[in-house]
Amino acid sequence: MENAKTVTVVGAGYVGLSTAVALALLGHEVRVLDTNAARVEGLKRGEPPFYEPGLAESLAQAAPRLRYTTDPAEAYDGSEVAIVAVGTPPTPAGHADLRYLYQALETLAQHRVGLVVVKSTVPVGTNQDAKRILGPGVAVASNPEFLRQGQALSDTLYPDRILVGAEEEWVFGVLERLYQPLVEQSFEELPWLPRPKALREAVARGYRVPLVRTGLESAELAKYAANAFLATRISFINEIANVAEAVGADIEEVVRAIGLDPRIGPHFLKAGLGYGGSCFPKDTRALAYLAKRGGYDFKLLRAVIEVNQAQRYRLVEKAEAVLGRLTGQTVVLLGLAFKPGTDDLRDAPSLEIAEELLARGARVRATDPKALELAKQILDPRVETFADPLEALEGADAVLLVTEWPEYRALDWAEVKRRLRRPVVLDGRNALDPRAMEALGYVYQGIGRGRKLSELAL
Ligand code: UGA
Repeated sequence: MENAKTVTVVGAGYVGLSTAVALALLGHEVRVLDTNAARVEGLKRGEPPFYEPGLAESLAQAAPRLRYTTDPAEAYDGSEVAIVAVGTPPTPAGHADLRYLYQALETLAQHRVGLVVVKSTVPVGTNQDAKRILGPGVAVASNPEFLRQGQALSDTLYPDRILVGAEEEWVFGVLERLYQPLVEQSFEELPWLPRPKALREAVARGYRVPLVRTGLESAELAKYAANAFLATRISFINEIANVAEAVGADIEEVVRAIGLDPRIGPHFLKAGLGYGGSCFPKDTRALAYLAKRGGYDFKLLRAVIEVNQAQRYRLVEKAEAVLGRLTGQTVVLLGLAFKPGTDDLRDAPSLEIAEELLARGARVRATDPKALELAKQILDPRVETFADPLEALEGADAVLLVTEWPEYRALDWAEVKRRLRRPVVLDGRNALDPRAMEALGYVYQGIGRGRKLSELAL
């Protein structure tokens, strides 16, 4: 490739690995630096450290241009660009813990890499701090990502936009050249991650993926604003769903009706148990904190967070309303991961739901197609785990559908009913069809759809 560069990616998590694989597939030489030796050794053997669709195949394909190491000297020697993608987990107070970022920057300051790109989600002002740490002669760019877990690679390879915050013209130039094959979508298509049809057709008509140039602070804030806005949509639609439940409307019908307004759009209006995962919960709290520290009370965002928290417990309250006291009753959680397509349990609603059920005296069983092994290490040992959902459902009093894995939609619900002691299904993700469930004889309610709670009787 004409503009091929030697790039070091710091951090082999979802963001770092997706970035590293993508850059290698675009034709760059990539070194991946991580402090976790076991993770690096695994990657050298071609083993992805977590489940992500298409990652194993892509790592194999990109292997000739990917190197892994725990040694900063090896990672940075001769490298032109360093992309920092380490975690910024929340502290108990709600702000972003920048310890891993600062460690990475301090190590970088001892090496000679001319351009440091911060990809980690960081509070506004962090890139200016990075400049101070790195000293004169090193340029800094902010380059947040917008990838979703479970779609990390396709979001990286087929982005809606690429965001670059910088202060020097040449820095924009370097990153434009680095990402040129992404902008032009000129890299070879992967059979296991095909280019979306609409994108392929648009590119044929001359479309280029927009690369948005901003200042450092705007890029930092844009990342938080994007996540906070999406979180706001989710809390908003969950509130409408709760109203729908109270008045006997159907949230899916309401969303169909409003989503056709191009000013609203249909995306991120799926009512459910609220948002979880490693991004929205952390980033909404971090932005609220950032605002507060700046002397501004971000009331709307505080409400978004509060609504999201309450939404998780509604399912437990509903279970109690239908079953009566939960003491001694067997409740099955279908799904534990914070969303389908991942084994990630960070801030997953399932964890708090399980705790709350236990606190109310229920016997809790749980199953998940991907997250079970991890869950066993985190969940209260009183939660019984099952690999086979049908086994978990044997003799149970209620089913709570927590993660909308396609496997659960595809269950033979007539067969499930024969196994249950009581045919109660509370669908936290609107994964099932209320009419079909009622026709099978279930006492069923979704989030904002199905019968009113007062009409559900065993
Ligand atoms: C999110 C953003 O979607 C990405 O753009 C962003 O880059 C990423 O955070 C990040 O900051 O790194 P992710 O957390 O992987 O990605 O997951 P999403 O698919 O966005 O889902 C987040 C949560 O919202 C899930 O718990 C999901 O169940 C929930 N959700 C999503 C809803 O309840 N309703 C919806 O309509 C959409």
